Amino acid sequence: MSEADPVLAAMRRHRSIRDFRPAPVPEADTERAVEAAQCAATSSWIQAYHLLQVTDPEERAELARLAGDQRQVTGAGAFFIVSGDTRRHRLLAQREGAPYAHSTELFLLATVDASLFAQNLTLAFESLGYGTCYIGGIRNQLAEVDRLLELPEGVYPLFGLCVGLPASDPGERPRLPARAVWSQGRYPSDEQVLDSADAFDVEAAAYYEDRGAPGRNWSGGVWRKFRRPLRPDLREVYDSKGASFD
Ligand SMILES: Cc1cc2nc3c(=O)[nH]c(=O)nc-3n(C[C@H](O)[C@H](O)[C@H](O)COP(=O)(O)O)c2cc1C
Repeated sequence: MSEADPVLAAMRRHRSIRDFRPAPVPEADTERAVEAAQCAATSSWIQAYHLLQVTDPEERAELARLAGDQRQVTGAGAFFIVSGDTRRHRLLAQREGAPYAHSTELFLLATVDASLFAQNLTLAFESLGYGTCYIGGIRNQLAEVDRLLELPEGVYPLFGLCVGLPASDPGERPRLPARAVWSQGRYPSDEQVLDSADAFDVEAAAYYEDRGAPGRNWSGGVWRKFRRPLRPDLREVYDSKGASFD
């Protein structure tokens, strides 16, 4: 379906870019994108996020390695770390001599705020003609990433973001139908949930086949991914950064 609305059309053109032309992202474009991204809604106006641009090429190379040898981290025109940021709030409380009460809720507030900001940022960059790729791989070895960047207490690194001019078009990855992720009144039955996954497997099969991976299926990828706990050290790392899950 072609989309007449220009913003929705831009959203529908999204694809993660992993192959970039070797051109830096001008600071003026980043500033423009960040200012637009900051207009995202933010819980109680707290603005609990931070965007750190990694400027040292050696640090970028090390981050690429820590993220599982992801070459787009060094190949992109710019690379950023998106963090949930409670530091400003802590410092404000400290300056007043007021207590600062940690809780799971504060970690969630910062994570949600940072994610809304990041997705607005991604869309802003895409609208300026750039390609983007989130890098959750930085959580593979999060303690090392945190040490390398010397992030202070109260700043929770969540994921990286590559931005640059695309060198090739990987094509769109299909999504579940809207009706599979949107229901009215009540959550769908387990049978409906599984039926929508089976139907999506048929669509995803064509996607895999186009990319030279016949026989792969989406639902198999999902259940295999969750057979073991993922990144089980994360709670400890975030605890050490001053988060609390009490
Ligand atoms: C929080 C987050 C972390 C991600 N981490 C990585 C990553 O480490 N490496 C990567 O190549 N893609 C990463 N991705 C991109 C996803 O794989 C991609 O969005 C998904 O497969 C759908 O493809 P599309 O973005 O091209 O539509 C990440 C996406 C998100 C939202």
